[in-house]
Amino acid sequence: MYEGKAKKVWATTDSSLVVVEYKDDATAFNGLKKGTISGKGVVNNLMSNHMFRLLSQNGIETHYAEELSDRETVVKKVQIVPLEVIIRNRAAGSMAKRLGLTEGSALKCTVLEFSYKDDSLGDPMINDYHALAMGISTKEEIAEISRMAFKINDVMKAYFKKLNVDLIDFKLEFGRFEGRIILADEISPDTCRFWDSDTGEKLDKDRFRRDMGGVEEAYAEMTRRLAEENEVM
Ligand code: C5P
Repeated sequence: MYEGKAKKVWATTDSSLVVVEYKDDATAFNGLKKGTISGKGVVNNLMSNHMFRLLSQNGIETHYAEELSDRETVVKKVQIVPLEVIIRNRAAGSMAKRLGLTEGSALKCTVLEFSYKDDSLGDPMINDYHALAMGISTKEEIAEISRMAFKINDVMKAYFKKLNVDLIDFKLEFGRFEGRIILADEISPDTCRFWDSDTGEKLDKDRFRRDMGGVEEAYAEMTRRLAEENEVM
């Protein structure tokens, strides 16, 4: 049906379901930087599905339906709300740069940010008034998306803490399904900043974006901690 930067989407015989295939292709800076992270698709599929199951146990409805293989998962077919919903627990990345803050500095409260999902515009940051004014979403949807994003942050922060990982920030996407807003897309080292709680070592896609080396190793380390925690559970 569709091939994106990091995933392919396949139709199924059931019109309410699609199959997502996670690729090893990696891009950054709106497609300007391209590369491959060997094994990334497997890590992202595994972590996303694990997080979706955990979130569902915590009352968050997600698009997850069934894991088919180490790279393929059946998900509910949603109409994506064209917003990148970003939660920030500490200042990093584009926020640190834009506002002149030290990478990793503490924030007095959690920050919720929206970007308009549009590659040709470079996903510009917008606020809820822009989203309403442009007809991107309704007031009710924005309230529901915001409520869910903060709840997801609570569940994820606590979970990753058990893996000795600080959840610095992350991006979510939501979709419309049978009149409801549900969590879609993925939750992975591509879409989150994960820092080791003791050393501050980056265990996410920033290693690729910033040419830091050890990219595959970082993804593998997150998988290792996830698997270890799974055995304990
Ligand atoms: O680059 P920035 O600091 O705005 O990114 C914030 C968070 O959102 C990071 O965790 C990053 O991985 C994620 N993100 C993403 N996809 C984008 C932009 C940001 O997953 N297109």
